[in-house]
Amino acid sequence: MPLQQLTPASHTPTAAARYGGGAMFFHWAIVFLVVIVGGIGLLHDSFPEDTHEFWINLHAIIGLLVLGLGLARVWWRVTHKSPALPRESGELSRRFAFPVHLLMYVLLFVIPVVGIVTFIWHGRAFDFGLFRVDFGVHKNRAIFHPTEDLHSWLAYSLFALIGLHVLAALWHHFYRRDGLLARMWPAPRDS
Ligand code: HEM
Ligand code: HEM
Repeated sequence: MPLQQLTPASHTPTAAARYGGGAMFFHWAIVFLVVIVGGIGLLHDSFPEDTHEFWINLHAIIGLLVLGLGLARVWWRVTHKSPALPRESGELSRRFAFPVHLLMYVLLFVIPVVGIVTFIWHGRAFDFGLFRVDFGVHKNRAIFHPTEDLHSWLAYSLFALIGLHVLAALWHHFYRRDGLLARMWPAPRDS
Protein backbone atom coordinates (compact mmCIF):
# COMPACT_ATOMS: atom_id res chain seq x y z
CA MET A 1 0.00 0.00 0.00
CA PRO A 2 1.50 3.41 -0.94
CA LEU A 3 2.66 5.36 2.12
CA GLN A 4 0.34 8.24 1.33
CA GLN A 5 -2.72 5.97 1.69
CA LEU A 6 -1.92 5.51 5.38
CA THR A 7 -1.77 9.25 5.90
CA PRO A 8 -5.04 11.21 6.22
CA ALA A 9 -5.44 13.54 3.23
CA SER A 10 -5.31 16.58 5.54
CA HIS A 11 -1.85 15.45 6.72
CA THR A 12 -0.36 14.54 3.35
CA PRO A 13 2.62 16.90 3.07
CA THR A 14 2.55 19.50 0.30
CA ALA A 15 5.66 19.94 -1.87
CA ALA A 16 6.77 22.83 0.39
CA ALA A 17 6.46 20.65 3.52
CA ARG A 18 8.47 17.70 2.24
CA TYR A 19 12.20 17.16 1.87
CA GLY A 20 13.63 17.85 -1.59
CA GLY A 21 14.96 15.19 -3.99
CA GLY A 22 18.58 15.80 -2.96
CA ALA A 23 17.87 15.37 0.77
CA MET A 24 15.91 12.16 0.06
CA PHE A 25 18.68 10.81 -2.15
CA PHE A 26 21.31 11.41 0.55
CA HIS A 27 19.09 10.01 3.30
CA TRP A 28 18.22 6.71 1.57
CA ALA A 29 21.64 6.20 -0.06
CA ILE A 30 23.28 6.55 3.37
CA VAL A 31 20.70 4.23 4.99
CA PHE A 32 21.51 1.59 2.35
CA LEU A 33 25.28 1.94 2.80
CA VAL A 34 25.14 2.04 6.63
CA VAL A 35 23.17 -1.23 6.63
CA ILE A 36 25.88 -2.85 4.45
CA VAL A 37 28.87 -1.35 6.27
CA GLY A 38 27.38 -2.13 9.70
CA GLY A 39 26.46 -5.66 8.57
CA ILE A 40 29.99 -6.38 7.33
CA GLY A 41 31.47 -4.83 10.50
CA LEU A 42 29.35 -7.06 12.74
CA LEU A 43 29.62 -10.25 10.67
CA HIS A 44 33.15 -10.28 9.24
CA ASP A 45 34.52 -12.22 12.24
CA SER A 46 32.18 -15.13 11.53
CA PHE A 47 33.35 -15.44 7.90
CA PRO A 48 36.30 -17.77 7.06
CA GLU A 49 39.62 -16.48 8.43
CA ASP A 50 41.26 -16.17 4.99
CA THR A 51 38.50 -13.79 3.79
CA HIS A 52 38.87 -11.30 6.69
CA GLU A 53 41.27 -9.02 4.77
CA PHE A 54 38.78 -8.82 1.91
CA TRP A 55 35.80 -7.99 4.16
CA ILE A 56 37.67 -5.43 6.26
CA ASN A 57 38.90 -3.72 3.07
CA LEU A 58 35.35 -3.69 1.63
CA HIS A 59 34.01 -2.41 4.98
CA ALA A 60 36.61 0.39 4.95
CA ILE A 61 35.89 1.42 1.35
CA ILE A 62 32.11 1.52 1.83
CA GLY A 63 32.74 3.38 5.11
CA LEU A 64 34.77 5.98 3.17
CA LEU A 65 31.80 6.35 0.81
CA VAL A 66 29.53 6.95 3.82
CA LEU A 67 31.96 9.62 5.03
CA GLY A 68 32.05 11.32 1.60
CA LEU A 69 28.27 11.17 1.15
CA GLY A 70 27.75 12.33 4.75
CA LEU A 71 29.91 15.42 4.16
CA ALA A 72 28.11 16.15 0.87
CA ARG A 73 24.83 15.71 2.72
CA VAL A 74 25.75 18.21 5.41
CA TRP A 75 26.76 20.69 2.71
CA TRP A 76 23.39 20.05 0.99
CA ARG A 77 21.57 20.43 4.31
CA VAL A 78 23.05 23.84 5.07
CA THR A 79 22.54 25.16 1.53
CA HIS A 80 18.93 23.92 1.16
CA LYS A 81 16.02 24.80 3.41
CA SER A 82 14.47 21.85 5.31
CA PRO A 83 10.73 21.73 5.99
CA ALA A 84 9.68 22.70 9.53
CA LEU A 85 8.07 19.93 11.60
CA PRO A 86 4.28 19.82 11.18
CA ARG A 87 2.30 21.17 14.16
CA GLU A 88 0.64 17.75 14.68
CA SER A 89 4.02 16.10 15.38
CA GLY A 90 3.91 16.96 19.08
CA GLU A 91 6.15 18.50 21.70
CA LEU A 92 8.39 15.43 22.22
CA SER A 93 9.43 15.31 18.55
CA ARG A 94 9.84 19.07 18.43
CA ARG A 95 12.26 18.82 21.36
CA PHE A 96 14.24 15.69 20.41
CA ALA A 97 14.25 15.44 16.59
CA PHE A 98 17.00 18.01 16.04
CA PRO A 99 19.47 16.78 18.72
CA VAL A 100 19.01 13.15 17.61
CA HIS A 101 19.52 14.04 13.92
CA LEU A 102 22.54 16.17 14.81
CA LEU A 103 24.08 13.36 16.87
CA MET A 104 23.60 10.96 13.94
CA TYR A 105 25.38 13.40 11.61
CA VAL A 106 28.26 13.72 14.11
CA LEU A 107 28.56 9.92 14.46
CA LEU A 108 28.45 9.45 10.67
CA PHE A 109 31.57 11.64 10.60
CA VAL A 110 33.45 10.51 13.72
CA ILE A 111 32.96 6.73 13.23
CA PRO A 112 34.65 6.62 9.79
CA VAL A 113 37.47 8.92 10.97
CA VAL A 114 38.22 6.65 13.95
CA GLY A 115 37.85 3.67 11.54
CA ILE A 116 40.48 5.18 9.22
CA VAL A 117 42.94 5.57 12.13
CA THR A 118 42.26 1.97 13.20
CA PHE A 119 42.71 0.68 9.66
CA ILE A 120 45.96 2.55 8.93
CA TRP A 121 47.60 1.89 12.32
CA HIS A 122 46.77 -1.78 11.89
CA GLY A 123 49.30 -1.58 9.04
CA ARG A 124 46.60 -2.10 6.38
CA ALA A 125 46.46 -0.58 2.87
CA PHE A 126 43.26 0.45 1.06
CA ASP A 127 42.75 -1.76 -1.98
CA PHE A 128 40.47 -0.02 -4.50
CA GLY A 129 40.86 -2.79 -7.09
CA LEU A 130 42.57 -0.67 -9.75
CA PHE A 131 45.02 0.87 -7.28
CA ARG A 132 46.15 0.64 -3.66
CA VAL A 133 46.69 3.40 -1.12
CA ASP A 134 49.34 2.40 1.39
CA PHE A 135 50.41 4.92 4.03
CA GLY A 136 53.36 2.71 4.95
CA VAL A 137 52.46 2.89 8.66
CA HIS A 138 53.70 0.03 10.85
CA LYS A 139 51.17 -1.92 12.86
CA ASN A 140 50.91 -0.21 16.25
CA ARG A 141 48.78 -2.00 18.83
CA ALA A 142 48.97 0.92 21.29
CA ILE A 143 47.04 3.00 18.76
CA PHE A 144 44.74 0.61 16.92
CA HIS A 145 43.52 -1.31 19.99
CA PRO A 146 41.85 1.63 21.76
CA THR A 147 40.65 3.17 18.48
CA GLU A 148 39.12 -0.15 17.42
CA ASP A 149 37.21 -0.30 20.72
CA LEU A 150 36.14 3.32 20.32
CA HIS A 151 35.05 2.68 16.71
CA SER A 152 32.92 -0.28 17.85
CA TRP A 153 31.27 1.57 20.73
CA LEU A 154 30.50 4.59 18.58
CA ALA A 155 29.04 2.27 15.90
CA TYR A 156 26.84 0.55 18.54
CA SER A 157 25.67 3.97 19.75
CA LEU A 158 24.78 4.91 16.17
CA PHE A 159 22.82 1.65 15.76
CA ALA A 160 20.90 2.41 18.98
CA LEU A 161 20.08 5.93 17.76
CA ILE A 162 19.00 4.55 14.39
CA GLY A 163 16.71 2.09 16.20
CA LEU A 164 15.16 4.97 18.13
CA HIS A 165 14.87 7.07 14.97
CA VAL A 166 13.15 4.27 13.03
CA LEU A 167 10.74 3.59 15.92
CA ALA A 168 9.93 7.32 16.04
CA ALA A 169 9.33 7.41 12.25
CA LEU A 170 6.99 4.39 12.49
CA TRP A 171 5.20 5.84 15.52
CA HIS A 172 4.56 9.07 13.61
CA HIS A 173 3.41 7.16 10.57
CA PHE A 174 1.13 4.54 12.09
CA TYR A 175 0.05 6.14 15.40
CA ARG A 176 0.09 9.91 14.97
CA ARG A 177 -0.52 9.70 11.22
CA ASP A 178 1.00 13.14 10.77
CA GLY A 179 2.60 12.48 7.37
CA LEU A 180 6.16 12.68 8.75
CA LEU A 181 7.44 9.59 6.94
CA ALA A 182 5.85 10.78 3.69
CA ARG A 183 8.04 13.92 3.94
CA MET A 184 11.10 11.74 3.39
CA TRP A 185 9.44 9.53 0.78
CA PRO A 186 9.19 10.37 -2.94
CA ALA A 187 5.78 11.90 -3.74
CA PRO A 188 3.37 9.84 -5.87
CA ARG A 189 3.32 11.04 -9.49
CA ASP A 190 -0.17 12.59 -9.28
CA SER A 191 0.43 14.75 -6.16
C1 HEM B 1 29.54 4.78 9.29
C2 HEM B 1 30.52 3.99 8.90
C3 HEM B 1 30.99 2.78 9.68
C4 HEM B 1 30.29 1.95 10.54
C5 HEM B 1 28.81 2.03 10.93
C6 HEM B 1 31.23 0.96 11.02
C7 HEM B 1 30.91 -0.06 11.89
C8 HEM B 1 31.78 -1.03 12.34
C9 HEM B 1 31.44 -2.14 13.18
C10 HEM B 1 30.05 -2.41 13.75
C11 HEM B 1 32.56 -2.87 13.40
C12 HEM B 1 32.70 -4.16 14.22
C13 HEM B 1 32.92 -3.84 15.66
C14 HEM B 1 33.05 -5.10 16.50
O1 HEM B 1 33.52 -6.14 15.99
O2 HEM B 1 32.71 -5.02 17.68
C15 HEM B 1 33.65 -2.22 12.69
C16 HEM B 1 34.96 -2.64 12.69
C17 HEM B 1 35.98 -2.02 11.99
N1 HEM B 1 35.85 -0.94 11.16
FE1 HEM B 1 34.16 0.13 10.80
N2 HEM B 1 32.46 1.21 10.47
C18 HEM B 1 32.35 2.30 9.64
C19 HEM B 1 33.34 2.87 8.87
C20 HEM B 1 34.66 2.44 8.83
C21 HEM B 1 35.73 3.04 8.04
C22 HEM B 1 35.59 4.26 7.10
C23 HEM B 1 36.86 2.32 8.30
C24 HEM B 1 38.27 2.49 7.77
C25 HEM B 1 38.60 3.22 6.73
C26 HEM B 1 36.51 1.28 9.24
C27 HEM B 1 37.41 0.36 9.76
C28 HEM B 1 37.09 -0.63 10.64
C29 HEM B 1 38.09 -1.56 11.18
C30 HEM B 1 39.59 -1.57 10.86
C31 HEM B 1 37.37 -2.43 12.04
C32 HEM B 1 37.95 -3.57 12.87
C33 HEM B 1 37.96 -4.79 12.03
C34 HEM B 1 38.75 -5.90 12.72
O3 HEM B 1 39.96 -5.93 12.49
O4 HEM B 1 38.13 -6.67 13.48
N3 HEM B 1 35.17 1.38 9.54
N4 HEM B 1 33.15 -1.11 12.05
C1 HEM C 1 21.06 4.29 8.67
C2 HEM C 1 19.88 4.62 9.11
C3 HEM C 1 19.38 6.05 9.18
C4 HEM C 1 20.07 7.21 9.41
C5 HEM C 1 21.55 7.38 9.72
C6 HEM C 1 19.09 8.30 9.35
C7 HEM C 1 19.40 9.63 9.55
C8 HEM C 1 18.50 10.67 9.43
C9 HEM C 1 18.82 12.07 9.61
C10 HEM C 1 20.20 12.61 10.01
C11 HEM C 1 17.70 12.79 9.39
C12 HEM C 1 17.55 14.31 9.51
C13 HEM C 1 17.40 14.93 8.15
C14 HEM C 1 17.61 16.43 8.26
O1 HEM C 1 16.67 17.14 8.57
O2 HEM C 1 18.76 16.85 8.08
C15 HEM C 1 16.65 11.85 9.06
C16 HEM C 1 15.35 12.18 8.77
C17 HEM C 1 14.35 11.25 8.59
N1 HEM C 1 14.46 9.88 8.60
FE1 HEM C 1 16.15 8.83 8.82
N2 HEM C 1 17.86 7.77 9.08
C18 HEM C 1 17.99 6.41 8.97
C19 HEM C 1 17.01 5.50 8.69
C20 HEM C 1 15.68 5.80 8.53
C21 HEM C 1 14.62 4.85 8.28
C22 HEM C 1 14.82 3.32 8.14
C23 HEM C 1 13.45 5.55 8.24
C24 HEM C 1 12.05 5.05 8.03
C25 HEM C 1 11.53 4.07 8.72
C26 HEM C 1 13.79 6.95 8.40
C27 HEM C 1 12.89 7.99 8.37
C28 HEM C 1 13.21 9.32 8.42
C29 HEM C 1 12.24 10.40 8.27
C30 HEM C 1 10.75 10.24 8.07
C31 HEM C 1 12.95 11.60 8.39
C32 HEM C 1 12.37 13.03 8.29
C33 HEM C 1 11.92 13.48 9.64
C34 HEM C 1 11.24 14.84 9.49
O3 HEM C 1 10.30 14.93 8.69
O4 HEM C 1 11.67 15.78 10.14
N3 HEM C 1 15.14 7.07 8.60
N4 HEM C 1 17.17 10.58 9.10
